[in-house]
Amino acid sequence: MRPVTIEDLRRIARRRLPRMVFDYVDGGAFDEVTLRANRADFERLRFRPRVLTDVSERDLSVVLFGSRLALPLVLAPIGLAGLVARRGEIQAARAAEASGIPFCLSTASVCSIEEVRAAAVKPFWFQLYMGKDRELARSLIDRARAAGCSVLAFTVDVPVAGQRERDLRNGFTVPPRITPANVLDTARRWRWMREVLLGSRLTLGNVPHSRDEGFLPLARLMLRNHDASKTWREFEWVRSLWPGPLLVKGVLTAEDARLAVEHGADGVVVSNHGGRQLDGAPSSISVLPSIVEAVAGRATVLLDGGIRRGQDVLKALALGAHACLIGRAFVYGLAAGGEAGVRRAIEILAGEMDVTLALLGRRSLAELDGSALEPVAWPAPAGAGR
Ligand SMILES: Cc1cc2nc3c(=O)[nH]c(=O)nc-3n(C[C@H](O)[C@H](O)[C@H](O)COP(=O)(O)O)c2cc1C
Repeated sequence: MRPVTIEDLRRIARRRLPRMVFDYVDGGAFDEVTLRANRADFERLRFRPRVLTDVSERDLSVVLFGSRLALPLVLAPIGLAGLVARRGEIQAARAAEASGIPFCLSTASVCSIEEVRAAAVKPFWFQLYMGKDRELARSLIDRARAAGCSVLAFTVDVPVAGQRERDLRNGFTVPPRITPANVLDTARRWRWMREVLLGSRLTLGNVPHSRDEGFLPLARLMLRNHDASKTWREFEWVRSLWPGPLLVKGVLTAEDARLAVEHGADGVVVSNHGGRQLDGAPSSISVLPSIVEAVAGRATVLLDGGIRRGQDVLKALALGAHACLIGRAFVYGLAAGGEAGVRRAIEILAGEMDVTLALLGRRSLAELDGSALEPVAWPAPAGAGR
C-alpha cells in the first residue's frame, strides 16, 4: 500500500527496523511528556480560513539565508541516520537536494562530511556538537567550511545526554546489551541486517579514526568527550571561526533567544531536541510566539519538534517561524524506503501544505500571519516575561 501520511511511513519503519533502532528514533526522554506535548500542542491550534480569495496559483517557496527553498523545510540533523538505512545520510542528502530543500548533517553521523560532499551537488548544512576536545571542534568547523557547507547549527541543548529509557530497556547502549530477545528481533529484520549491519561499514565518519577502528571505540570516545561546562564564551569562539550563517539550535526561552542574537547568532532553532533531552520542557510551538517577539526581526527563527503534517508547518509559519526542520518525519521515510522514502515524506508534507494553504485562502507563505490562527492561551511558564 502506498504510504499516504507520515504515520504510514512510521508504521513501515516499525516493521523494517529492529526494535532497538526503531525505538532509538521514535522515543524521547524519561516519561516522554515533552515528546507528546510537541504533537498535542500542534493539535490544539485551530485555523481561521478566509474564503473567495482566488487561490488558483500557490507558492510554497521561501528564501532562507539568501537561497530560495522549494518548501519551508530543512532535514534536521540526525545522529546515526546511517543506522536506519545504508549510508543513510547520503540517501537523505540526495532526497533533500531532489526536493529543493537543505539537508543538515549531524556531527554524530555515520557518513563523513567529505562523503556527503562528494555525493551532493548543492551545499548542505552542518550541525556541530562541541565536546571537551576543542581541536576536534575546530577541525569539524574547518572541514565543514572546506566542504562548502552553507549554514552551521550549533546545538546547545545537550550539556549531558538525555535519559532515553526505551534505549536503556532495549540495551541500545555503548556497548550494546546483547540478549536472546534482541538477537532474535534483529535476525527477523533480514533486510536491515543485509543492507545496514552487514552491507556497510558502521562508523562515526566525522571522528578521525584509523580504518580498523570500529564503531564502539568511537562511540565510547564521543561519550567521554561530552562537555557540560560550555557557556556563551564557547559560542563566541565558534562565531569567530565560522563566517557564514550560524544558528543556535535548542533554544526554548525568550531570554536565551535574546542572548543568542547579542552574541552574534544569525538565527535560532526553537527546539527541545524532539523531546529527547529535558522531559517536562514545553513544546516548541508553544514557546515560539515569545521567541519571535524577543528576536523582533533581528534574526531568523526556525522551529522543530513534532512536525508530522503539512498543517503543522503552516501553523509554525503563521506564528512567525521562517521555516521548520523535520526530524523523525524524514527518518521514518528513510527507514521505509531509503532515498525514495525520504522524497515521499517530503512530498507528503508538501501536498498537505499546498491543500491547507488553499483552504486557508492564502496563495503564498508570505500571506500567513497570526490572523490565520484562532488565538490560544498557552499556560505561561513560571518566570515568563522576566
Ligand atoms: C534519532 C534522532 C537523532 C538525533 N540526533 C541529533 C543530532 O545528532 N544533533 C542534533 O542537533 N539534533 C539531533 N536530533 C534532534 C533533531 O535534530 C530535531 O531537533 C528533532 O528530531 C525534531 O523533532 P521531530 O523528530 O519531532 O521532528 C535527533 C533526533 C532524532 C529523532
